[in-house]
Amino acid sequence: MVDGVNVPKNIVLIGFMGCGKSTVGRELQQRLGYPLVDMDSLIEQRSGRAIATLFSELGEPAFRDMETHLLEELCDPDAPRRIISTGGGVIVRPQNRALLRQLGYVVWLQAPVGTILDRTSRNRDRPLLLTDDPKTRIMALLDERMPWYLETAHLTLDTRGLDSGEIATGILESARYFFTGHP
Ligand code: S3P
Repeated sequence: MVDGVNVPKNIVLIGFMGCGKSTVGRELQQRLGYPLVDMDSLIEQRSGRAIATLFSELGEPAFRDMETHLLEELCDPDAPRRIISTGGGVIVRPQNRALLRQLGYVVWLQAPVGTILDRTSRNRDRPLLLTDDPKTRIMALLDERMPWYLETAHLTLDTRGLDSGEIATGILESARYFFTGHP
């Protein structure tokens, strides 16, 4: 569906924690049959440690280094087409923002603060939100990161009221324009 010559091949999902990147990634994987790379999961698998443990034992900068190295690896031009689901903070580094654009069609999934709070409060695996006041933390991080998501994304998608199937349909419609220049 997303054929083209000399164009980046992948669909890349960015967005804040709890915006549905992994769920939408799985939906796209099913529809397109491309492999799904969930960056957080792959980093956990390779390091043999949970993200929370990586943060507490090695610190956030070490985790960000792992994200950068993985992005560099994913940029291999000979790799097959993939769906790439990223961690919410991947856009913090300028180098990562450039690598993400190099990787393919970048879609920013947005969700309201209330939804983010609700989804992320269901477990304690997000070290940056382990505070007494996660809502204030979410709003501060969103505020700080907003320009970086905006700068990185080819498409901004407000997911309010949409299920993962509808979101995937929207992404595929616009990806077709991106990769071929026509529907
Ligand atoms: C982070 C988001 C997390 C994970 C880590 C840091 C962030 O991924 O990479 O806890 O800085 O926003 P999700 O967006 O998949 O929760």
